[in-house]
Amino acid sequence: MKILGIETSCDETAAAIVERDAAGRANILSNIVRSQFEEHAAYGGVVPELAARSHVTHLDGIIARAAAEAGLRLDEVDAIAATAGPGLIGGVLVGLTTGKALAASLGKPLIAVNHLEAHALTARLTDGVPFPYLMLLVSGGHSQFVLVRGVGDYERWGSTIDDALGEAFDKVAKLLDLGSPGGPHVEKQALLGDPKRFRFPRPLLKEKTLDFSFSGLKTAVRLAAEEIAPLSDKDVADICAGFQAAVAEIVRVRAGQALERFGDGATLVVAGGVAANKAIGAALQQAADVAGARLVIPPMALCTDNGAMVAWAGAERLALGSVDGMAFAARPRWPLDSADMGLTHGH
Ligand code: KG4
Ligand code: ZN
Repeated sequence: MKILGIETSCDETAAAIVERDAAGRANILSNIVRSQFEEHAAYGGVVPELAARSHVTHLDGIIARAAAEAGLRLDEVDAIAATAGPGLIGGVLVGLTTGKALAASLGKPLIAVNHLEAHALTARLTDGVPFPYLMLLVSGGHSQFVLVRGVGDYERWGSTIDDALGEAFDKVAKLLDLGSPGGPHVEKQALLGDPKRFRFPRPLLKEKTLDFSFSGLKTAVRLAAEEIAPLSDKDVADICAGFQAAVAEIVRVRAGQALERFGDGATLVVAGGVAANKAIGAALQQAADVAGARLVIPPMALCTDNGAMVAWAGAERLALGSVDGMAFAARPRWPLDSADMGLTHGH
């Protein structure tokens, strides 16, 4: 089966066509992503209304390119999958409504995809990872450990109680005037700095929980920066190195605890933009090595928001006979472990 996937829940307008064979193997026929990065740059963060308008402007063209690159006409796909939440509601509406219009006009089934499920199932698209496995999702909006038991079957083991990890990177970057998105800038600076000069707190680390907390760490970074302002280039690099060392240690310890809870034969898969960070990746590898677990970090283009993961999640659901009706409403909030994640069987 060939599925068109549409993603518009944040600041990427994306569409892709993915093929799934009878054995469950995936083949990405096209994967087009248009980042709105420049449209939001002047505001220091994503402006929801601008994002929604930009999706309206660009989505049709992105879908046409996805079809052209796959060498298919749209009526040759077997189903349309569109992100239906969680996310910025204006953008989700644009993508889901477009998906519904295509499904209705082409006479194809619609799958309303949970964006978090799309991230969660990506390791099956890239590496065919069998259920069950543990996922760490670390993006600009989410930081959570999730036990992935099957399609539609999730158990959340821990989440951030304040900022997401990517958000913490972004806030530190903003504080130090490093530009956005902040993660890559902070990582670059951290490589030049001394991780031992500043010893930042590791919030919650001693607690017996799989939750995260990053807002106290962010405040500690701000106070340290204010204390020594004006900052030299070396100060900036040292602060970034200290911050990154703190978050890497937090992630390593938490991942170790989560893997211990999972037990033998664990696979830990990582999703979300922060998976690009080499220090975080190394920390997760350490935790996996200690636990004797397998670590899977999909290629970056599939860790950050993209249409292929949405198409794949749609394919996994369709293969199980789960499709959605035209009445499916866009959702700003939609936790993976909610009752609404189960499989549906036609409408
Ligand atoms: O998954 P993503 O592309 O978008 C969503 O939030 O859904 O993640 C973006 C986040 C941003 O906060 C960005 O700063 C962070 O991922 N990020 C990084 C790196 N690359 C992206 N954080 C740390 N190190 C990086 N190299
Ligand atoms: Zn995402």
